[in-house]
Amino acid sequence: MNSNQKELIKATIPILRASGEDLTNYFYARMFREHPELRNMFNMGNQANGRQKSALANAVLAYAENIEDPSVLIGVLKGIGTKHRSLNIQPEQYKIVGTQLIASIAEVVGEAATPEILEAWTVAFYQLAKIMIDLEKGLYEENAAKPGSWNGWRKFVIKKIVEESTEIKSFYLYPEDGKEIANFHAGQFISVQVFVPELGLLQPRQYSLSSAFNPEYYRISVKKESGIAPNPSGLVSQTLHSKREGDVISISAPAGLFHLEKDSKSPLVLISGGVGLTPMLSMLETNLNALQNKKTVWIHGCRNESVHAFKEQISALKEEAEWLATFTFYDSAPNDEAFSNEIIEGRVDLHKCKEAILLEEAKFYICGPEMFIKTQYEALINLNINQENIFYEEFGPQLINLN
Ligand SMILES: Cc1cc2nc3c(=O)[nH]c(=O)nc-3n(C[C@H](O)[C@H](O)[C@H](O)COP(=O)(O)OP(=O)(O)OC[C@H]3O[C@@H](n4cnc5c(N)ncnc54)[C@H](O)[C@@H]3O)c2cc1C
Ligand code: HEM
Repeated sequence: MNSNQKELIKATIPILRASGEDLTNYFYARMFREHPELRNMFNMGNQANGRQKSALANAVLAYAENIEDPSVLIGVLKGIGTKHRSLNIQPEQYKIVGTQLIASIAEVVGEAATPEILEAWTVAFYQLAKIMIDLEKGLYEENAAKPGSWNGWRKFVIKKIVEESTEIKSFYLYPEDGKEIANFHAGQFISVQVFVPELGLLQPRQYSLSSAFNPEYYRISVKKESGIAPNPSGLVSQTLHSKREGDVISISAPAGLFHLEKDSKSPLVLISGGVGLTPMLSMLETNLNALQNKKTVWIHGCRNESVHAFKEQISALKEEAEWLATFTFYDSAPNDEAFSNEIIEGRVDLHKCKEAILLEEAKFYICGPEMFIKTQYEALINLNINQENIFYEEFGPQLINLN
């Protein structure tokens, strides 16, 4: 890319900022019209609620802003590449996205999009595409090399379904081919692909693995998303909740950057909101199975006791494990004898348990909705925790960038 083209890209940033959403709306509509098969690959729930669109708009803008040195984006691109790998995105599909994106810029921006500007954006897009294709090639190779692993989709039988709360069910997934399955790091997720009758489409979603690695099966725990009017109910979570034992679904191999560090001896502080407790369960069980258990503090917040999944298992474990402390925040707490000083009424407030969590060299893991993550992250920074020791996962497109 020559310096004139870089200047043209930089000059386009204000136009993109102004029409970023319009452009991506237009782009997706155009792409799905010309390539309807891709609707099976994208999360149509995120398309409807607009979240994936802003993720792509942000990525394109971030790239334009860093056109002089795109290498600063490598951390972000690794996160996107990891998600792409878990969805089996292929190099040839970049051409489809590139063609649709450039055509959309031409059509949305109109006459102001001169041939030179379009050429500069074409060069820029394929430069970014090459970085991502190369990065993803490495991820596919690394994944294929792991014992028991696979690229793309593999069929698993739901052998057991367990109700964990009024709205969360666990699914025990066994490989249909009976062969070995891949190990994973506690905190990682799998992508699940199911047919959604309401859409007449296959749909992928991500679910964190909610137990320590077991060579027989993977376990996920899924909250049934009941839409609050006027928003519709969640498509895949409803479909999964209607599944029976013996049904078959497709999943991709474990992936994700939010996980316990191998061989780290640091104490753990796990902070979860709602169904954001799933990766923490895997971390907790992995620590339980380890030769030396790390000191662990788990702070969890949810609406009330009836939606608090796994609470009996955690209480039972706490009786035996002196390395574990827990604090539970309920929006509304039960007013009976079971109410202990480890159950606190109100939203999660880390200042209320700061003595317990200010552990030397601790690693902090946060998982929950966007606002929850932002609030807890800010609280940790206020408690002088170094941001390098804070890790977080949002259960949707990565829209927050705090580190
Ligand atoms: C890494 C990762 C790990 C995850 N782990 C877990 C886990 O362990 N357990 C778990 O339960 N979930 C997990 N999730 C979330 C999960 O992937 C799904 O997003 C979730 O199950 C909802 O999917 P759905 O198909 O049911 O809802 P969708 O159909 O995708 O809808 C999502 C939301 O958008 C709203 N919506 C849909 N259409 C519209 C519209 N037109 N206007 C406004 N709003 C609308 C719905 O009401 C719903 O609240 C994880 C996500 C990620 C990225
Ligand atoms: C340079 C080109 C691309 C960029 C900048 C890009 C950017 C992104 C970003 C930022 C996300 C969100 C990551 C997250 O969920 O955390 C994402 C997810 C995704 N991308 Fe890409 N992407 C590109 C190319 C492609 C291609 C070629 C395909 C395949 C047709 C594709 C399909 C997807 C899908 C299916 C998702 C998940 C969507 C969802 O869950 O809603 N992307 N991409």
